Amino acid sequence: MSDLTFNKVAGAVLAVGLAIVGLREVSGGLFDQQKVEKPGYMVEVVEEASTGAVAEVPPDWGTVLPTADVKAGEAVFAKCKACHTDSSGGPNGIGPNLWGLLGRKPGGHAGFAYSPAMTEFGGKQPVWDYEHVYEFVKAPQKYIGGTKMTFVGLKKQDERINLIAYLRTQGSTGFAIPAPNPAAAAAPAEGAAPAEGAAPGAAPTAGAPTTVPAAAAPATPGGTAAAPH
Ligand code: HEC
Repeated sequence: MSDLTFNKVAGAVLAVGLAIVGLREVSGGLFDQQKVEKPGYMVEVVEEASTGAVAEVPPDWGTVLPTADVKAGEAVFAKCKACHTDSSGGPNGIGPNLWGLLGRKPGGHAGFAYSPAMTEFGGKQPVWDYEHVYEFVKAPQKYIGGTKMTFVGLKKQDERINLIAYLRTQGSTGFAIPAPNPAAAAAPAEGAAPAEGAAPGAAPTAGAPTTVPAAAAPATPGGTAAAPH
């Protein structure tokens, strides 16, 4: 109708808009304060620590990989095949093709629609190395919260080591195996023997599976913890 009516209406709309903005400012302040009070994930961290029983010593890759059971690792990979191929140029399935995984950028395989979580992980971690595959495959959704890999995980250390040794044969043989350093692997748990003395066979693990020598034996005869890196 008249300009005056229009102005009134417009003025009212503007006033309501301002009121909403004002309310959000006020309540926003309140929410901010609540957010800091208690981070929700604290509980899970504690649980992880307590159910983990013995803290797992990371494997010394230079020691465990050369003796790992590649055939057994291939058998473990059967669990992955529902979602992954591992042949050169193989198709993506529910999960991405894993040829040449080691040394590859996480979330970087062409033609696969990764979750934002995996893409973000790739932003922080430039390559899939032994350690990160090992940790991820243990409990994918705990390690990368929000990943769409709905696989429960491989709890057994030797299964993961054998699997990684197998995956390395699938397009990643160029990804170097570091020199053995058993002392470094043992150090976090028990304190380490001098590096040159600690041959894998020296660890007192009678009856242990041949595929996991030093890493499964935190009970390396101890001296003081000197961990050369
Ligand atoms: C139920 C299906 C499923 C199974 C079983 C599965 N995965 Fe996955 N995997 C996925 C999906 C989906 C992704 C993509 C994850 C994302 O984008 O968050 C993925 C991603 C990955 C990645 C990251 C690859 C990249 O390009 O960054 C690795 C490594 C991996 N899986 C290894 C394995 C291994 C090893 C196994 C067997 C022990 C396995 N997966 C079993 C579905 C599966």
